[in-house]
Amino acid sequence: MAGAYCIMTVSTHSSITKHLAPLQDQYARTISYLRLSITDRCNLRCLYCMPPSALTTHADLLSFEEMLRIVRVAVSMGMNKLRLTGGEPLVRRGVMDFIRRLAQIKSLEEIRLTTNGVLLHDSAAELRKAGIRNLNISLDTLQPQRFKTITGSDLFAQVWQGIQTACELGFHVKINVVAMRGINDDEFADFARLATRQPVQVRFIEFMPIGNKGNWDRERFIAASELRGIFSTLGNLEPLPGSQMEGPARVYQLTTLDGQTGRIGFISPISHHFCDQCNRLRLTSGGRLRACLLHDHETDLKAILRGGGSNDDIGKAIRQTIVNKPKGHTLHDDSTELGQVNCQGRMSQIGG
Ligand code: GTP
Ligand code: 5AD
Ligand code: SF4
Repeated sequence: MAGAYCIMTVSTHSSITKHLAPLQDQYARTISYLRLSITDRCNLRCLYCMPPSALTTHADLLSFEEMLRIVRVAVSMGMNKLRLTGGEPLVRRGVMDFIRRLAQIKSLEEIRLTTNGVLLHDSAAELRKAGIRNLNISLDTLQPQRFKTITGSDLFAQVWQGIQTACELGFHVKINVVAMRGINDDEFADFARLATRQPVQVRFIEFMPIGNKGNWDRERFIAASELRGIFSTLGNLEPLPGSQMEGPARVYQLTTLDGQTGRIGFISPISHHFCDQCNRLRLTSGGRLRACLLHDHETDLKAILRGGGSNDDIGKAIRQTIVNKPKGHTLHDDSTELGQVNCQGRMSQIGG
């Protein structure tokens, strides 16, 4: 419980709780990064993610006004980085105006976005103007036909165009690839080529038993060490200094056998935990604050907001969630329980 007491608070005129020390949990991790799932709707149906039914109703979805209030309180407490996720964040009406309003929050240093890229070509310029500089784009295959199999839609060309536009406009782009044996494990050399030819970082994520678990299969799982092994046959992998400070990905410079260079990252939530460096909180599309992606415990901020709670009440709930943040999760790739993770939450509501 130590974390609860090392934080000093004062009330301001606006009654927002102001924190004079960084927000720390009981394991001395500084929590500075809020991920906001702004909708669980999506224009794709990736086989491992979202079932076609069970969407949050409009009434249960947090309004942008409510989210802004939560973000303002969180920022006043010391959080300084925000990522918008979904579902697909760009399908929510009014998202651009929401981003513009977020960008006006003083002390919010960065607003990033994770997208499937389908609507990116048309919205990239406006996103940039609104203040976004970093885009993470989910793309599990470079083959149009396979894209249709994985996502249910024949939209590869549109996503590809979105990626090109984002690069041309100068965004920092990371491509997120969920590595799945028997699905895209024959494309790693093509992804390596992408990383050497375009100014993007390509990151491989270990397939987690979360979301549409019916489609998770132990046989599909590929550990990051195996992935690194495959990439070392394509060239030389050199760890990029300081990359571990940037988040869960371990990033390498790949120099291919013909001398091309590119950045490749590996995210290993199962085989190599990064929980000891976790700096995140997640707000679900239904307004519940979640301290850990892989633990189902949530604090219902929406109930506090809609029950007439003050900003101090919101601040206290945020602090309590941080204090109760679990040390980590217990899944390992040699665990027989890998298919029974304690997470029933939907990836589209939590945002990944
Ligand atoms: P940046 O460092 O800002 O680029 O963020 P990021 O790398 O966390 O962003 P992104 O949303 O692209 O994360 C990629 C994926 O990594 C997520 O969708 C998750 O699958 C996984 N991931 C990210 N953070 C966590 C985490 O805290 N725990 C676990 N288990 N997985 C995570
Ligand atoms: N395992 C690993 N990554 C996943 N994502 C969605 N579901 C899973 C899963 N089961 C990733 C998506 C996207 C991000 C939001 O989360 O590919 O890049
Ligand atoms: Fe949509 Fe992302 Fe889920 Fe794919 S992984 S269905 S893009 S929310």
